Amino acid sequence: MLKEAFNYRLITPAIGAEFLNFSCLSSSKKRGEALRKVLIDRKVLVFRNQELKPLDFLEFMRIFGEPYAEDLTPQDDNPPEVGVIKIRPNERQTINFWHMDYSFTERPARILALHAQDIPPCGGDTLFTNLEAAYEGLDDETREQIDGLSGNHKMDVETQNAKNRWTRKELEEMEKAPPLQHPLVCTNPANKKKFLFVNVPIFCGSISEMQNYEGSQLLARLYHHAQRPEYSFRLTWEKNTIVVWENDHCLHYPVSDYYPHERKLLRVAIKGERRPAR
Ligand SMILES: [Fe+2]
Repeated sequence: MLKEAFNYRLITPAIGAEFLNFSCLSSSKKRGEALRKVLIDRKVLVFRNQELKPLDFLEFMRIFGEPYAEDLTPQDDNPPEVGVIKIRPNERQTINFWHMDYSFTERPARILALHAQDIPPCGGDTLFTNLEAAYEGLDDETREQIDGLSGNHKMDVETQNAKNRWTRKELEEMEKAPPLQHPLVCTNPANKKKFLFVNVPIFCGSISEMQNYEGSQLLARLYHHAQRPEYSFRLTWEKNTIVVWENDHCLHYPVSDYYPHERKLLRVAIKGERRPAR
């Protein structure tokens, strides 16, 4: 029913909906409600040919919740809720690994969205994987093994990416703070499905209830499991593509293969909630 009303195609069986002939400019309450349902089901929404101004992009994103001023610096007189991810010519993009944004914060962004402004002639794709599908794909033995365990989420402040993004003072404060614990298996309140809450080792490197080595081995296994092609898809950007995804139920991988070309994306983040105990 929803599929017909919106005219979208499934990108893979596990994840993604690509909308055809859709304008993000015209949104009504009813339409917003239906879009939110598709997002819960498909995890990633792709809208092509959206020639929107930054303020219109921000307005569209209000359908999904409350945008907040995030850590990216706004540019071009954009409001603080619209961040810019800009890779200049001859600059290399340093994030090229599967990850979830902000899992080391109290309220990881629930939804993220990007609007492609300038893209390289080719390359710079982004991959997304569905953590509910990843949980479903686990064998019974692993499900039993991880039930009741919690990952320790804390950013490794020694990485180049962290140093590029935060000030020395901010990094010192992050380093002092204790890790945040999130259950490895969570239940999505919107659809009652269980999902694997894992992240890249530099954001989540140990398990509270296990010895360091043993915990990091298990996390590495789960992290690699989540990346299977059966749970993911690869998005090729076009100018004016908008992608909206459930940050806390997905991992994403921005491919850094377009050097020395430039790329500019606008980003809006929607506030999340403290993860429920289990
Ligand atoms: Fe990211």
